[in-house]
Amino acid sequence: MSTLDDPVISTARLRLRAPGPDDAPRLAQLANDPGVARMTTRMPHPYGLSDAEDFLGRCGRKDAARERVFALEREGEGLIGMVGFHPNEAGRTEMGYWLGRPYWGQGLATEAADAALVWASEGWRRRYVMAGHFVDNPASGNVLCKTGFLYTGDVVPLHSLARGEPAPTRMMVWLA
Ligand SMILES: CC(C)(COP(=O)(O)OP(=O)(O)OC[C@H]1O[C@@H](n2cnc3c(N)ncnc32)[C@H](O)[C@@H]1OP(=O)(O)O)[C@@H](O)C(=O)NCCC(=O)NCCS
Repeated sequence: MSTLDDPVISTARLRLRAPGPDDAPRLAQLANDPGVARMTTRMPHPYGLSDAEDFLGRCGRKDAARERVFALEREGEGLIGMVGFHPNEAGRTEMGYWLGRPYWGQGLATEAADAALVWASEGWRRRYVMAGHFVDNPASGNVLCKTGFLYTGDVVPLHSLARGEPAPTRMMVWLA
């Protein structure tokens, strides 16, 4: 399925692979959507080509033992979104993801998150993964529940760059 150095994960409909500089135009096109950015903490809006290039450059410089980003690729479409693992403020591994709007509502986020979590536990040896979704994003809550996350009961304000303010966030945990 994958190695620690160069993980490539295949699912029924998707390939999860390392993002590269060639992804910039598609990334800029799909990410420049307030309905995507406002549901994330770190994505700016508007989102231009230089934002995509900066992001992809940072991906190449990440410490792979602590952080991973996978480009989600669908055959015939190319890049359709991203899923990643990042250390949160407490140093715990947190999962985040988004899909371009044309790809919503087909079970693809669940398929990607499921596969990424299997890799995180088997390839990356994580025993647990945190995640959070804004209270006004029940679709993401559904994805997380379907992949086996449980609510911790904590609701914390997390800053959203695209909103320009914090939003209440329901925290969840997944146990390997
Ligand atoms: C959230 C997001 C990843 C979901 O992607 P997706 O591929 O459509 O998700 P899935 O199809 O795998 O599952 C979504 C589930 O939520 C449900 N859902 C969708 N909209 C909903 C809503 N407004 N309220 C409640 N449930 C909703 C779907 O019916 C589905 O559940 P089901 O399979 O039980 O029917 C996608 O909409 C997205 O990228 N949004 C913007 C960025 C974002 O929110 N990222 C996550 C940050 S925590």
